[in-house]
Amino acid sequence: MLTIGSLRLDTRVLQAALSGYSDLAMRRVARAHGARFCFHEVVVDRLVLVKGRAQRRILDIPPDDHPTGGQIMGTDPLVFGAAADQMVAAGYDLIDINFGCPVNKVMGRCRGGYHLGQPEVAVAIVREVLSAVGGRVPVTVKMRRGLDDSPEAARQFFQILDSAFAAGIDAVTVHGRTVAQKYVGPSRWDFLARVKQHVGDRVVIGSGDLFGAEDVRRMIEQTGVDGVTLARGCIGNPFLFQQALDCLAGQPPCEPDVLAQRAAIELHWATAREVYGERLGLRRLRSHAIQYARLHLQPIAVRDAFIAMRTADDLAAILEQWYSTESLAVTGA
Ligand SMILES: Cc1cc2nc3c(=O)[nH]c(=O)nc-3n(C[C@H](O)[C@H](O)[C@H](O)COP(=O)(O)O)c2cc1C
Repeated sequence: MLTIGSLRLDTRVLQAALSGYSDLAMRRVARAHGARFCFHEVVVDRLVLVKGRAQRRILDIPPDDHPTGGQIMGTDPLVFGAAADQMVAAGYDLIDINFGCPVNKVMGRCRGGYHLGQPEVAVAIVREVLSAVGGRVPVTVKMRRGLDDSPEAARQFFQILDSAFAAGIDAVTVHGRTVAQKYVGPSRWDFLARVKQHVGDRVVIGSGDLFGAEDVRRMIEQTGVDGVTLARGCIGNPFLFQQALDCLAGQPPCEPDVLAQRAAIELHWATAREVYGERLGLRRLRSHAIQYARLHLQPIAVRDAFIAMRTADDLAAILEQWYSTESLAVTGA
């Protein structure tokens, strides 16, 4: 249903790269709920090359975690290339280049979205990564729709886009916000339609403001993009993957009951504990759990309980109080 170079995916709905979120635990839960391709969190190229715990975590892709896309940010084309080579050797199924991150610290270090304002360097990075990967896996680029709303920014966007496809990338993911915009205002889907019209048969994946299954259907219909990435919409809501697939197949999406929500949280917790240990695992889980609470019929009380949670016993008590068959009667579900 979606072909990205040598990768044939039985879906058009991918899990986005989400820094601080899309770790093994999130990806495992997403896959259990219909995601058939997930991105790892973005990694800084240098961290891939320096021996240590960060490198081990980045390069450890367990057998049940495929296909996974590795996303790289950095400044120097040669370092980008070396990192891409290591990540492919470690088993990543696709390499994505980050030209989108708008965070001040990242921009200040001339990484991420900064490259949208320097097309020559951006294209040098693309060429170096393509050369280092050497066709072993697909290479893609993630871009915001420009640095800002100026005509110069649009010109630079299309210069990078055209040169990257000419160099040999397999797809582009476009988030319809500018770097300057950060998250203020909507993602411009009309820009996604313009990009798709511009590149014709080449693969475009759309990003921005996909919070429900209907949003996914509308984006694909309105813009003609070949696929989409779910981002904020799937944090604490892995059910969105299956709902989007059902919606695209013309079927009504199913809402998860509390027992389905509990099973997802338990799987998330089991993996977070396995990867990080109990203390850090619980901290990592908490930011997701606060979002899981939005699905509950008592979202405020459950969110507050997750915020106050400090130990694994607290988590077990929350699951018993709010996510058991008894709690169904209390919440009237
Ligand atoms: C917490 C957070 C972390 C993100 N991390 C990344 C990242 O590592 N790499 C990336 O390309 N985009 C990242 N993004 C951007 C998303 O992938 C996506 O393009 C953007 O949020 C728009 O989609 P949405 O409006 O559906 O959330 C991040 C977004 C958020 C909210």
